Amino acid sequence: MASNDAASQVNQGAGFMGWLNKRLPVNKFISDQLLEYYAPKNFNVWYFFGSLALLVLVMQLVSGIFLTMFYKVGDTTAFESVEFIRREVSYGWLIQSLHAIGASAFFVVVYLHMYRALMYGSYKAPRELLWLFGMFIYLALMAEAFMGYVLPWGNMSYWAATVIINIFSTIPVIGPGLVEWIRGDYGVADATLNRFFSLHVVAIPLILLLLVALHLVALRQVGSNNPDGIEIKENKGSDGKPVDGIPFHPYYTVKDIVGVGFFLTLFAVVVFFVPTFGGLFMEEANFEPANPLSTPEPIAPSWYFTPYYAILRAVPNQRIGALLLLLAVLAFFFLPWLDRSPVKSVRYRGLWFKGMLAVFTVSFLALMYLGLKPASASYVNAARVFAIGYFSFFVLMPLYTKWDRVKSVPKRVSFHE
Ligand code: HEM
Repeated sequence: MASNDAASQVNQGAGFMGWLNKRLPVNKFISDQLLEYYAPKNFNVWYFFGSLALLVLVMQLVSGIFLTMFYKVGDTTAFESVEFIRREVSYGWLIQSLHAIGASAFFVVVYLHMYRALMYGSYKAPRELLWLFGMFIYLALMAEAFMGYVLPWGNMSYWAATVIINIFSTIPVIGPGLVEWIRGDYGVADATLNRFFSLHVVAIPLILLLLVALHLVALRQVGSNNPDGIEIKENKGSDGKPVDGIPFHPYYTVKDIVGVGFFLTLFAVVVFFVPTFGGLFMEEANFEPANPLSTPEPIAPSWYFTPYYAILRAVPNQRIGALLLLLAVLAFFFLPWLDRSPVKSVRYRGLWFKGMLAVFTVSFLALMYLGLKPASASYVNAARVFAIGYFSFFVLMPLYTKWDRVKSVPKRVSFHE
């Protein structure tokens, strides 16, 4: 840096960089966003998942572009073109596996990323909008994954699409018409596949990219939370920098690379050694072409949707089941306003919050498991119990976060070298 006030007077450099910096603020961007951006120094492994979500997003975009070069949309061509990609195209098996398994990896990473926010109260003020952008990303991701799943036109693609689209028929008055409008036909058909292709490949990725950009701008505006839930901007040293902050580069760029290393190792183990992951990441029924005359048993959506699917099936009345499914997703949007605790991090909360977070965690995982199982009486009854656990986390939150006996939050973050 040529000057003492690095943030405001960035070295423009000489030669080509000097020329470029006069026309595009490259050095200023690097300085503002990396070198002079102070992040809390107590990030733990839970803070890996944001950068990992970015990595998986890029991986899905790149592998998706290559798949689109060979995939042939259409009810008579789609399944065979995916077979062709896996068997004949050079490294096609790898590209297709990366993309299909990458979808599951995306949800693993995003669920852990969201769970971190629950633990450390990252959705609370001043990060409400950051959280809302995150939730819109989550919705877009669910739409993207659902439509992508239909594209190989395997038997589970066909039946999952049929079941999921039919949920819309429970909407009073407009439901049946809406279902036909979504499908573009009287059943899930070629028209449905074509529009899902267009949405999956063009529309939703654009929306996702825009939302991720907004998510990051909002993050930069308020700054990261941390495992102690202390606002580091409120405690600045004489140099004007947060006393509990460290420059993002090199500290967190290097730390994030460690996360990337771990993630890619695990991901490679799955891709090369256990690609189907016991039928969770690739289902057996999807290695057969779509067949409207043969229903797979049981019809289950991908594992990342099954908590909601279990809630849907837990209620005998289809309309109420669909409403609860909707509420189960929407409930997350309201967290910033349901939580009335004066502290953010679980570290300083009392038994009430810790207990309810445990109830939520167990319920979510149990519902995930139950949604993969057939709708037999015992599974459905268990799903009812866990659905109550799931909703009580949200509905009772204004009460138990008020009653909770919180600990006093220290002035400085806890940091062990
Ligand atoms: C494509 C998906 C996503 C990407 C690429 C992404 C990216 C990131 C990145 C890079 C960070 C900063 C690093 C970190 O804190 O880990 C971050 C923070 C955050 N994200 Fe996301 N995110 C995604 C989805 C979501 C979703 C679905 C939610 C919640 C509904 C969410 C909520 C948050 C919150 C609350 C923070 C601040 C956390 C804190 O400072 O403690 N994000 N995100």
